[in-house]
Amino acid sequence: MKLVGLVGWRGMVGSVLMQRMQEEGDFDHIEPVFFTTSNPGGAAPKMAKNETTLKSATDIAELSKCEIIISCQGGDYTTEVFPKLRASGWNGYWIDAASTLRMNDDAVIVLDPVNKDVIKNAMSRGVKNFIGGNCTVSCMLIGLGGLFEQGLVEWMTSMTYQAASGGGAQHMRELLTQFGTINQSVKPLLDDPASAILEIDRTVLATQHGLSAEETKQFGVPLAGNLIPWIDKDLGNGQSKEEWKAGAETNKILGRGEGFGKGDANKAIPVDGLCVRIGAMRCHSQALTIKLTRDVPLDEISDIIASHNQWVKVVPNTREASMRDLSPAAVTGGLGIPVGRLRKLAMGNDYLSAFTVGDQLLWGAAEPLRRMLRIVLD
Ligand code: HSE
Repeated sequence: MKLVGLVGWRGMVGSVLMQRMQEEGDFDHIEPVFFTTSNPGGAAPKMAKNETTLKSATDIAELSKCEIIISCQGGDYTTEVFPKLRASGWNGYWIDAASTLRMNDDAVIVLDPVNKDVIKNAMSRGVKNFIGGNCTVSCMLIGLGGLFEQGLVEWMTSMTYQAASGGGAQHMRELLTQFGTINQSVKPLLDDPASAILEIDRTVLATQHGLSAEETKQFGVPLAGNLIPWIDKDLGNGQSKEEWKAGAETNKILGRGEGFGKGDANKAIPVDGLCVRIGAMRCHSQALTIKLTRDVPLDEISDIIASHNQWVKVVPNTREASMRDLSPAAVTGGLGIPVGRLRKLAMGNDYLSAFTVGDQLLWGAAEPLRRMLRIVLD
């Protein structure tokens, strides 16, 4: 059995990964070694067969004993440890949730229902670094992989509605704290059916503006009852880093664009839009406008999308189905990726709209990693 090192298994993404690995019986196929940054020598979680003590996540000699390492510890850890580990001569598989290595030439972004061929080709070339993609990109490609596979996307815009969890566990807590503070500030008015709605509204606004530094420590501004139209760094060209990732990572996952071959069949597909944080918990939603390469009837488009993989579900473009099935509350905790609001737009028959929702901790983070582990083990 292969020794598999697990780093960052206690955090939010790591906990979801552990849960999924247990559900899928992954621990029956490996000998896990649990690493820690805070408690070396402590007791490791009990699995079928594994070391009983936690190893230090910065101990290069201990890490080097593993044939595969999966890290959910975050970018700073990868930046610190990965180069030292490779410099020590370690030649194992590095599977990572952090973005640090994603765009490196010697790394592949893993999303095997969409790019198993890219992964397999890379493995046969000896590539050993396999990195999980940006959550929004991964969820979008599980949903719309069929359109890309059939060469139907000339370009696409993605307008996102991203959940608090994308920032981390503390961001989710902060969102709920803000909701609570706002609710408390208007509770007596809400309890009085005769109170004026505009007074409630004024009080809510005053409370939002008056939130303490502690209550806005993660987001910097109120998110509850509000939105934030910027995610991640400012690239200085009017684009946020999250927006840049949509185009860069989509094309890298698909093995398209610069560095992947020449000619029209391989050219990068423009994917761009605006990324917005909203007060959802852990599902990222996106409104997509797709310029099709040709006019394909809507029923064929539905079939192409629905038949791409076992997780995508086309939601009929009706009010009832959209409200019931196409929301963060409907999707959270499951691997299903609904795609709905499919219709041809007024701009012409080759302009398609779509709306999709995905659990950003599952397809957006943990699931591609554990599936990559299984590909290496096969
Ligand atoms: N950058 C994402 C977000 C997180 O902030 O929502 C996961 O890739």
